[in-house]
Amino acid sequence: MKTGILFVCLGNICRSPQAEGVMRHLVEVKGLGDRFEIDSAGTGNWHVGNAPDQRAVETARNNGVDISGLKARQVRAEDFEKFDYVFAMDRDNLADMEQMASGAGLSPHLFLEFAGTNDLQDVPDPYFGGTGFADVYRLIEAGCSGILKHIQKESKT
Ligand code: 4NP
Repeated sequence: MKTGILFVCLGNICRSPQAEGVMRHLVEVKGLGDRFEIDSAGTGNWHVGNAPDQRAVETARNNGVDISGLKARQVRAEDFEKFDYVFAMDRDNLADMEQMASGAGLSPHLFLEFAGTNDLQDVPDPYFGGTGFADVYRLIEAGCSGILKHIQKESKT
């Protein structure tokens, strides 16, 4: 059985597709690609069917990760049955996921829970400016790396 990991943000065009791309890349490099099912989704539906934001695509490409072929979708109830882990990019996304997951046997996590970023809990939304895409990408790399270590530790116990 594959381990299913779902990343969730607001629009599914900036942060969560990058997390999907970085995590896919990470497990491929480690030779674990066939052990994981990795996906991303948004709490909102504004961008459903769209490719990721061009700035997110370019930042990932600069780091050797191709997310240009991904398509945005909205989170659905079945996701909480299908995936083993759901990671929300910020606390607003987490609150939405906790509401949707109630009744399912799964507790959504904050994406940065295992990143070692101390007090930082949210991956900032880069869509409207503020935090730049390069800084967000570094956080996403740290988050994915911590998540993979956590999952590997859990699966061995
Ligand atoms: P994301 O960024 O949640 O990281 O994909 C956003 C993308 C679009 C919007 C908000 C956040 N929007 O309001 O359209």
